[in-house]
Amino acid sequence: MKVGIPKEIFINESRVAATPDTVSRMAKGGMEVIIETGAGLNSFISDDDYVKAGAKIVAGAEELFGAADCILKVQKPLMNDRAKKHEVDMMKEGAVLITFLQPYANLDIVIKLVARKITGFSMDAVPRISRAQMMDALSSMSTIAGYKAVLLAADNLKKFFPMLSTAAGTVYPAKTVIIGAGVAGLQAIATAKRLGSRVVAFDTRPAVGEQIQSLGGEFAPLEVNHGQAEDAGGYAKEMSADFYKQEQEIIRKHSKDADVIISTALVPGKPAPTLITEEMVKEMQPGSVIVDLSVEQGGNCALSEAGKIVVKHGVTIIGTTNLPATIPVHASQLYSRNILNFLMLLAPDKKDIKLDLEDEIVKGSMITHAADITSNGVKEAVKKANIAYPSGNAARSHW
Ligand code: NAI
Repeated sequence: MKVGIPKEIFINESRVAATPDTVSRMAKGGMEVIIETGAGLNSFISDDDYVKAGAKIVAGAEELFGAADCILKVQKPLMNDRAKKHEVDMMKEGAVLITFLQPYANLDIVIKLVARKITGFSMDAVPRISRAQMMDALSSMSTIAGYKAVLLAADNLKKFFPMLSTAAGTVYPAKTVIIGAGVAGLQAIATAKRLGSRVVAFDTRPAVGEQIQSLGGEFAPLEVNHGQAEDAGGYAKEMSADFYKQEQEIIRKHSKDADVIISTALVPGKPAPTLITEEMVKEMQPGSVIVDLSVEQGGNCALSEAGKIVVKHGVTIIGTTNLPATIPVHASQLYSRNILNFLMLLAPDKKDIKLDLEDEIVKGSMITHAADITSNGVKEAVKKANIAYPSGNAARSHW
C-alpha cells in the first residue's frame, strides 16, 4: 500500500501528518511512503530527513494524491490553487483519507468524498475510549492549545504572573481563572501555575476537583450533583438555562478581580455555553485578558470573535484559532503518532488496510465509505441541509 503525505495548504497551517519517526515505522512494516516535497519544512523536517527514514519524495500535489492508496493529512481537503484542482478530485477513486475532517462543518467536502468513493476517516471523531487514547489527536492538540493559551494571556497581560519580592516592593501574583478543566483546561492550569499565577478553576464535573487541586489550582465547585453533569462516558452533559445563569453568577465573583480568564468549556456535539456575558466583561479589571478557546464552537464569552484579538470595555479578548499550528514541531510529533496508531488499527498486518467495520473506533471515526455516508449523524445533517448526493451516485437511493 502507498501512503501519501501532502504539504498542507490551509492558511498558516504548519503541521504535517508524518515525521521521520512515523515514516520509518510505516516503511519497516512494508508500506511505501511518498511525501510531497517541502511537506515538513514548517515543522523543520527536510525532504532529506524523510528520505533517510525510508520515504520517497514527489514533486507535486497532483502526483502525490494520484498515486497514494491512503492519504494522511492534518486539515480538511481544500482547493489547491497551484494544481487548480480540489484535493479530493486529485485522489484515486476508492482511496482512504485520514484527517481532521470536521464533517459537520464541511458537509460539502463529505459529499465530494462520496462522489469519489473515498473512505474518509475523521480524527476528530475517534471515540474518546481507553483503547483509542493513543489515537486521540483532539487531546494531543488540546494539550498544546491549553499551554499556548496561557502564553498568549501572559504576553497580552501588562503585569507579571508570579509573585516577586524585590527591594522596590512586593508584586502580588496574577489571578487566573480557568473555566472547564478538561484536556486544555488542565494543561492551562499547569502552565499558569508554572508561571507563578494563582489559579482558580471551575468545571461542571465535580470529579475533576481532585485533578485541579493536584496541579496546585483551587477548585471552585458549582452547585451540581455528581452524575447530573456527566454522561456514562464521563463527558459533560448540557445543563439547563437556569443552571448556566447561576454558574455565571458564581464565575462573576471570581472574574471581577481576575487578571486572566481561560475558557475551555465544551459539551461534546453542542454549541459552547455562554458563561461570560458582556456585563461580566464590563465589570472586569481594565487590562485583564480573556482567552476563549471554545470560540469556534460559538464561544464561552459573548464578545469573543473567532480568529481575532479584540479589546472590549478595556479587556483584551483573544479568539485566536488553530493554536496547535503555532507549536508545529511538537504538534506534528504528537499528531503523527496519533495518526500512525490509527493507521495501524486499520492495517493490522502493518502493510495493507483491512477494514474491520465492526470495530468501535473504525465505526465511530468513519464518515464515508463505498460511495455512502456511514456516520448517521453526518447523514442526518446532510439531509437537514437539503444537500443532494452527487448525481448518478448509487448511494442516492439510500435516502
Ligand atoms: P474537553 O471536553 O476535554 O474539556 C471541556 C471541559 O469543559 C470538560 O471538562 C467539561 O466538563 C467542561 N465544561 C462543560 N460545560 C461546562 C460549564 N458549563 N462550566 C464549566 N465547565 C464546563 O475539551 P478540550 O479538548 O479540553 O477542548 C476545550 C476547548 O478548546 C474546545 O472548545 C476545543 O474545541 C478548544 N480547542 C481550541 C483550540 C484552538 O486552537 N483555539 C485547539 C484545541 C482545542
